[in-house]
Amino acid sequence: MAAKRILLIIGGGIAAYKSIELVRLLRKAGMTVRCVLTRAGEQFVTPLTLAALSENKVYTNLFDLKDEVEMGHIELSREADLVVVAPATADLLAKMAAGIADDLATTLLLATDKPVLAAPAMNVRMWLHPATRRNVATLRSDGVTVIEPDEGEMACGEYGPGRLPEPEAIKQAVAAALARTAGAVPLSGQPDFAPASHRPLYGRRLLVTAGPTHEPIDPVRYIANRSSGKQGFAIAAAAAEAGAEVLLVAGPVPLPTPPGVVRVDVETAIQMAAEVEAALPVDAAIMVAAVADWRAADTRAQKIKKDGSGDVPPLALAENPDILAGLAKSAKRPPLLIGFAAETHDVIDHAQAKLARKGCDWIVANDVSADPMGGETNRVHIVSKDGVDSWDRLPKQAVARKLMEKIADELDLRSPVDSN
Ligand code: C5P
Repeated sequence: MAAKRILLIIGGGIAAYKSIELVRLLRKAGMTVRCVLTRAGEQFVTPLTLAALSENKVYTNLFDLKDEVEMGHIELSREADLVVVAPATADLLAKMAAGIADDLATTLLLATDKPVLAAPAMNVRMWLHPATRRNVATLRSDGVTVIEPDEGEMACGEYGPGRLPEPEAIKQAVAAALARTAGAVPLSGQPDFAPASHRPLYGRRLLVTAGPTHEPIDPVRYIANRSSGKQGFAIAAAAAEAGAEVLLVAGPVPLPTPPGVVRVDVETAIQMAAEVEAALPVDAAIMVAAVADWRAADTRAQKIKKDGSGDVPPLALAENPDILAGLAKSAKRPPLLIGFAAETHDVIDHAQAKLARKGCDWIVANDVSADPMGGETNRVHIVSKDGVDSWDRLPKQAVARKLMEKIADELDLRSPVDSN
């Protein structure tokens, strides 16, 4: 197999020093690396170091005529298998999201027809700023893989998310992105050729809900459940690996966004219902979330205080919308609608009853009496009108991949939904 080619764009942040180790690791893994340094990046690492480690010319200037003769900037942007931006500063992410091309790095990013992976690094406030949140969401929906920064102490002394992931973690994300794009390159526009057989969900749009919901009682208290989100996130990851366009509507869980997945975070069932509705139409919806059945009937604007009398405040509950049942009845019902059911006894009987009650096509039922929520494995039974398909106990990732195979087989019988 030919060595994979990486175009590595190094932005100007203190974390740029880690790019030196990244080049070394990528080379060690048998990849060829061409580095592009932004003007700010040059303040932190030198072209000489990168040239020595990559054993390749380092590019810095858009208007270097000699480079244009040797290799034009368009060619440079296209000859790689993957474009990696590390560190991706807030400024670079903003320019990428807006399509600004005012130097060599940003021009290459706009001109490329190859998948792009960005590893952000910045101060925690900058990472959490609504402008950066917006830019990251835009980039993800454009198909750019933006990996989550690490959390920890920053060079500036503050603490929180924003640190560049370790070079080894970036290398793994690069390997995963290369594996995903092997065969077809669907990111910007149409694929060059027919999707490879190992991307059986290419051209399909899948919606996954995952995690618990939090239903506020007052500003500091909420109703929750023990859902970890692991199975739902594994399903979203497997769907993206299988080539689908994946929207993950996630309740509050501290899990990283799987590569290639567009994630929308919500807290409450009502917010989840709205995001699910906004995601339609989709080819398949896989409703893994453990949505709270009830919410506080009235959420207090101020913290409920103990008044010392010993009286317990009443807690009135209201029923949450059943998102799955609502979707089953909606005019935009996905052609394949899958619900989950966690049961402690009579698993199959309850799943069959739930299938009819919710109006979905399959119920993925699991017995949570043996392995409580939050575990790493799952034993599931796929219950449909055609019968019951029972699988052995498997790691959640394996359940997710097997489920994708079954979904792909089912969707093969149907034409894709029109999302325009
Ligand atoms: O009724 P029960 O909560 O057991 O049903 C589980 C299935 O229904 C899951 O697929 C879950 O995501 C979905 N559900 C929902 N909205 C609710 C409750 C459950 O979509 N309010």
